[in-house]
Amino acid sequence: MGVQNILVIGAGQMGSGIAQVCAAAGYSVTLQDLKQEQLDRGLGIITKNLSRTVDKGRMTEEEKQAVLDRIQPTLDIEAARGADLVIEAAIEQMNIKKQIFAQLDELAPAHAILATNTSSLPITEIAAVTKRPEQVIGMHFMNPVPVMKLVEIIRGLATTDEVYQTIEDITKNIGKTPVEVNDFPGFISNRILLPMINEAIYALYEGVATKEAIDDVMKLGMNHPMGPLTLADFIGLDTCLYIMEVLHEGLGDSKYRPCPLLRKYVSAGWLGKKSGRGFYVYE
Ligand code: CAA
Repeated sequence: MGVQNILVIGAGQMGSGIAQVCAAAGYSVTLQDLKQEQLDRGLGIITKNLSRTVDKGRMTEEEKQAVLDRIQPTLDIEAARGADLVIEAAIEQMNIKKQIFAQLDELAPAHAILATNTSSLPITEIAAVTKRPEQVIGMHFMNPVPVMKLVEIIRGLATTDEVYQTIEDITKNIGKTPVEVNDFPGFISNRILLPMINEAIYALYEGVATKEAIDDVMKLGMNHPMGPLTLADFIGLDTCLYIMEVLHEGLGDSKYRPCPLLRKYVSAGWLGKKSGRGFYVYE
């Protein structure tokens, strides 16, 4: 299955990172969002990342420009008509994903693969709103996308081997390492990461140690690049809570209950780095 044109839905942190790595690998990319302001911000992040790579001497100014020229911004989802692959990186809400996939199914050519970057929503349920569930798949990138090597590839119930193989090949082409996962709540990454973060929040809630001490234990004792509370702020506390709820509901085990302190922070609007305050305060 030849893929040349990739449409990325959503120009946020993840969508812009995905657009950047696909364009850098030579694919022709369209980056779609509903708001011009969001598109401008996404292209700004990409330009800044590429300029940093130029400053480090790992890319020439001409190469940077060539990557930027391969990214076409648009506000119009009709761009799906020209796509061989769509990677959806919009907001993590099932009703919105379903609307987007139903629309993409109408617009995209019959051969096109529809992938979602969801971090925890069931691929099979998203696929079920389309008439091509065998061509729907999860492509879960990690943040920051240009740095992190992993792409978790999640097979929906109906995903064919051919579609899986195409996505695995593209993942390798963009310099990432694919890992094959079946469709269960939280997949592998968030089934393991989020309970660890939630437990760190419980440790803080119960007064076992300070936030700095909890982060230091995991950084210095386990060689994690960031402590779990710093990482929670980086991911977004609303996203952390949402994923814990998906695990709790989907797996039905009380070990996945979200910590009350996490709920309290989210209710307060303390969402982590993006809101200026989470477990830590950001200027
Ligand atoms: N975008 C692009 N590049 C970035 C970046 C960003 N946002 N942040 C850092 N970098 C690059 C830097 O330019 C630098 O590149 P070089 O080595 O080429 O010079 C490199 O990353 C290291 O950066 P720094 O020295 O500034 O800082 P650091 O060593 O602390 O690394 C980090 C930053 C890569 C974010 C590191 O702290 C880290 O690995 N943290 C953990 C990240 C993680 O766990 N991500 C997964 C989150 S969970 C998720 O995404 C899934 C989900 O569904 C919730």
